[in-house]
Amino acid sequence: MSDKKIFIFDTTLRDGEQVPGCKLNTKEKIELALQLEALGVDVLEAGFPISSPGDFHSVDEISKIIKNATVCGLSRAVQKDIETAAQALKHAKRPRIHTGIGTSDFHIKGKFNATREEILARAVQAVKWAKNFVDDVEFYAEDAGRTENEYLARVIEAVIAAGATVVNIPDTTGYCLPYQYGEKIAFLVNNVKNIDKAVISCHCHNDLGLATANSIAGIMNGARQIECTINGLGERAGNTSLEEVVMVIRQHRQLGFYTDIKAQELNPLSRLVSDTMRMPVQPNKAIVGANAFSHSSGIHQDGFLKDATTYEIINPEEVGAEGSKIVLTARSGRSALAFRLQKLGYDFNRNDIDTLYERFLQIADTKKEVMEDDLHSMAKAYTGSTVNA
Ligand code: KIV
Ligand code: ZN
Repeated sequence: MSDKKIFIFDTTLRDGEQVPGCKLNTKEKIELALQLEALGVDVLEAGFPISSPGDFHSVDEISKIIKNATVCGLSRAVQKDIETAAQALKHAKRPRIHTGIGTSDFHIKGKFNATREEILARAVQAVKWAKNFVDDVEFYAEDAGRTENEYLARVIEAVIAAGATVVNIPDTTGYCLPYQYGEKIAFLVNNVKNIDKAVISCHCHNDLGLATANSIAGIMNGARQIECTINGLGERAGNTSLEEVVMVIRQHRQLGFYTDIKAQELNPLSRLVSDTMRMPVQPNKAIVGANAFSHSSGIHQDGFLKDATTYEIINPEEVGAEGSKIVLTARSGRSALAFRLQKLGYDFNRNDIDTLYERFLQIADTKKEVMEDDLHSMAKAYTGSTVNA
């Protein structure tokens, strides 16, 4: 059986941009939109047009320049929001309106002071209204993660009957465990009569660090679109990280999925997003963190230097990273020291390295990392002492 395509819906410019301090102007949004299209995303959520005139303008401008990806604008289940989104998307080659409403009892009671029947009717109305402007309408059931499955299935069936082409099942609060999120998607696949008329989408937040695992559980149970952001940016603890889901799918071919993302662009784009949004990437971040391909303990370094596959499951070149690094710390071993000295042009034998290693450990115990300058000083002092001896 041939592999199934997973559509990558990037929301760096919408959910990612909601992060305090990450706001972008139109020029920055356009630059990132072009790079995201070059990366190969299928859908680009360009913004929330009703939220501000600036965001409307950004969505409008992005719609004019994006050639291949679907351009999507967010709205609430409110007529004015939907009309404004449609207006901002009017130049898009492939426009999509993303509309929806909270479906959990937390939202129905706490936010809307409404009943389940009223929310269902508003959901259907919103989709029907959006269909007046575009063919491609995605419906989000906000807080689907905490929505009772039977009611969620009724809402999803009704919005598909109203014309929704994609149904987004957000774990808005990042609450679900992977098996629960997977079961939720499976429940919809098995209990929504018209589910074959729409694509199921995963939109998972990372409040418990489970966003990537939940999205993968989603596709394993029938979802075909993942909503994600570069560097996992997004509200609170963030969204599913694009680079993580793409690489899980590439590493685990046995799952039977593929995406159209050009993996080599992942690190360059991660840096561009981080610089443009002024949001540093944590060093231990999978795929794109500064330490993602660094080896610092002696046991790992020794294995890695003999055969890289002992400690690396991804070749850094595959994801456009600079390359593997052998970092020298007080936990490093002789092979790593010899390797780094050799890279600097020194040719020491085993006995030399044994002696140098004692000196290296003294230095390493006084600092976090032994740098090139330290190695040069060490090597020169040692060479001087052996010449003079
Ligand atoms: O997290 C969420 O539920 C959202 C929706 C607006 C799609 O971002
Ligand atoms: Zn979200």
